[in-house]
Amino acid sequence: MGVYIKQLLAGRDFAIDDHFATQMANFVYLIGDDQKRVCMVVDPAWDVPGIIDTVERDGMKLVGVLVTHYHPDHVGGNIFGHNIAGLADLNKLRPVKVHVNAAESDGVKQVTGLSESDLEKHQGGDEVLIGNVKVRLVHTPGHTPGSQCFLAEESLVSGDTLFIGGCGRVDLPGGDPEAMYHSLTKVLSKLPEGTKLFPGHNYASKPVSTIGDEKKTNHYMLIKTLEDWRILMGGV
Ligand SMILES: [Fe+2]
Repeated sequence: MGVYIKQLLAGRDFAIDDHFATQMANFVYLIGDDQKRVCMVVDPAWDVPGIIDTVERDGMKLVGVLVTHYHPDHVGGNIFGHNIAGLADLNKLRPVKVHVNAAESDGVKQVTGLSESDLEKHQGGDEVLIGNVKVRLVHTPGHTPGSQCFLAEESLVSGDTLFIGGCGRVDLPGGDPEAMYHSLTKVLSKLPEGTKLFPGHNYASKPVSTIGDEKKTNHYMLIKTLEDWRILMGGV
């Protein structure tokens, strides 16, 4: 039994030749059970048929969606006047449950038009079973109130909470600088150093890091006190 995890880059692995997708550089992930050949997709957006094709080419069956947070580049919806495909399109092609943090469900419904019955609401610490693989939902507010990361054995999919060499913005609606400080330095930094980090965007020179490397080199994980953090965040 092993974890199946696949990193797909918008504009390269799906949504090919879509300039906006290429520019936004979102990563979509497939997480599942490599024996039972079942998986869930993390943040399906931009090109739903392209993502489904990848799942099927790998001989996997899609059994659910995991949502890191409600921003349209992760779940579909309207952003800067562009309409991005996402959960609503997937729901028409492959109606599977969408796992969200309870604090994020209203945002997801608003942005995607999905209804309550399409969602399964979770608290931090919940586990979702994909085949025999357990995925722990780690609540990491800061970028948005219901941002969550997904931990499957030694792999963490971190959405827009922790990037390689950076962290998600906290100045958008629902952003909370202090919550982000707590999520980075009290929650994610407590994970084993060897935990592989799979971020929500391709913003760095490499696509994958580890918690240990980020604790050594990521400025945002090296801040010692909330006071220093407030100064870095511009006196908020
Ligand atoms: Fe975001």
